[in-house]
Amino acid sequence: MMVRRVIAGLLLAASAASWGQDHGADVAELMPANNDIGDIASLQRGARYFVNYCLGCHSAQYVRYNRLGEDLGLTDAQVLENLMFGAGQLHDTMISSMRPEDGALWFGVAPPDLSLIARSRGVDYLYNYMRGFYSDPSRPTGSNNLWLENTAMPDVLWEMGGTRSAVFSEHDEDGVVTRTLDHFEVIREGSVSEEEYDQVIRDITNFLEYIGEPIQLERRALGVRVIAFLLIFLVISYMLKREIWRGVH
Ligand code: HEC
Repeated sequence: MMVRRVIAGLLLAASAASWGQDHGADVAELMPANNDIGDIASLQRGARYFVNYCLGCHSAQYVRYNRLGEDLGLTDAQVLENLMFGAGQLHDTMISSMRPEDGALWFGVAPPDLSLIARSRGVDYLYNYMRGFYSDPSRPTGSNNLWLENTAMPDVLWEMGGTRSAVFSEHDEDGVVTRTLDHFEVIREGSVSEEEYDQVIRDITNFLEYIGEPIQLERRALGVRVIAFLLIFLVISYMLKREIWRGVH
């Protein structure tokens, strides 16, 4: 029984791995997010951007502020001041002040909870999605998105990232017209440089990956400790072996 379950588990893992590869091929044009979840400063900045620019509409209902503070090396006072603006309790979860019903009413689609979005969409998608906004006056929000056509989400980072229009080229293959992005044209410069803006998006992506699996940080630290222990143990067992075999030859 046990063996059968283990085999089923292995088969499942193998098929999941190959699915991952196929899926990867689908989204080959996505630029890699290159975020580093071990970069605590980046996570701290990401948390700050998240509360300033995303929490107005999106919740992260599985994340508690005090856990966030612990993982990100922030004191309770820092969390209260920088992430909660003095309101609420440290053990609260990150709930948006906008109710999903109101979001659905205002935007047509309720802004999804972002706790697990990095796991469902992948970090590369998030990084590209947030960089994918362009001006489109035909949309109620005034913008559109390369990766989620006619998205109901406005381009919330426009002040930092600036505004740009997208120039598409059309390809006609046997009557099937496909559009691909040719280039962007800057309409208004953002308040930060392009590299800085990239880093902002990377920090937010990093934060979303972290909240998707907070234990990752601990696992890494634990991994380092386990390897250190094994190395020390290796030395001890080698010395022990020499001690035991001394004089046997
Ligand atoms: C003004 C409200 C608003 C703000 C602020 C906002 N969003 Fe959204 N967001 C939405 C709405 C509405 C949707 C649903 C879009 C859709 O399905 O078309 C959405 C969808 C998303 C999605 C899912 C995209 C997908 O593929 O389904 C992600 C990821 C996301 N938002 C990230 C963010 C991040 C990160 C921030 C902060 C930088 C942010 N949002 C700020 C309204 C908002």
